[in-house]
Amino acid sequence: MTDLIIGLPTWQLTRIFGIAAYLLLFAGMALGILYSYPFVKGKRKPAIYKTHMRLTNSGSLLALLHAAVLVIDTYTPFEWKEILIPFMAHEHPVLYGMGTISLYGLILLLLTSDFRQKLSKGLWLTIHLLAYPIFMLAMAHGFFAGTDSQLPAMKWMYGATIAITLMLLGGRVLLRKPLRRMTA
Ligand code: HEM
Repeated sequence: MTDLIIGLPTWQLTRIFGIAAYLLLFAGMALGILYSYPFVKGKRKPAIYKTHMRLTNSGSLLALLHAAVLVIDTYTPFEWKEILIPFMAHEHPVLYGMGTISLYGLILLLLTSDFRQKLSKGLWLTIHLLAYPIFMLAMAHGFFAGTDSQLPAMKWMYGATIAITLMLLGGRVLLRKPLRRMTA
């Protein structure tokens, strides 16, 4: 078992999980913003909500795996405290600390979505809007910490995902429809 774990390409795995988490969270964010557009009506609305939840849940799960794999990594092993306590990492403490904070943010979003019925609408919405800074933090962490960020394809990926998110957000602000409670 130990040999199997040691033999895993953990450094590659953590990078793949990080990038996959980022892309899933981006797609989930995009659908979350689209959900409040006035032309999204009828049967499409619950379908968009369901997919938004699925994408953000899977993205958060992969982000958790991305961080957890670092504990069994043999290239640059992390201790649990370096992962769980922000800015404690043995290298790039600020960049990796940003990852830890965004992970806690994702957990907060997941928990408050699960217990939404128990929260007031205003409180739930205030917490849910934290998704924007949390996503930006995860993006900055991925871009500045990632070995792969130097590749042109990765620069395009970050550029395109940021541009699309900003465009959707701009559209959302321009249409100025008050945010309504999401109902599945
Ligand atoms: C406890 C929390 C976290 C820790 C300790 C952590 C740690 C790391 C480390 C060490 C790297 C550098 C990998 C490399 O050099 O390529 C990295 C990259 C990355 N992380 Fe995290 N991370 C955390 C949370 C997150 C979260 C929540 C996301 C959400 C999307 C994320 C997305 C990424 C991405 C996209 C990369 C770039 C991978 C690459 O291009 O190679 N991380 N992270």
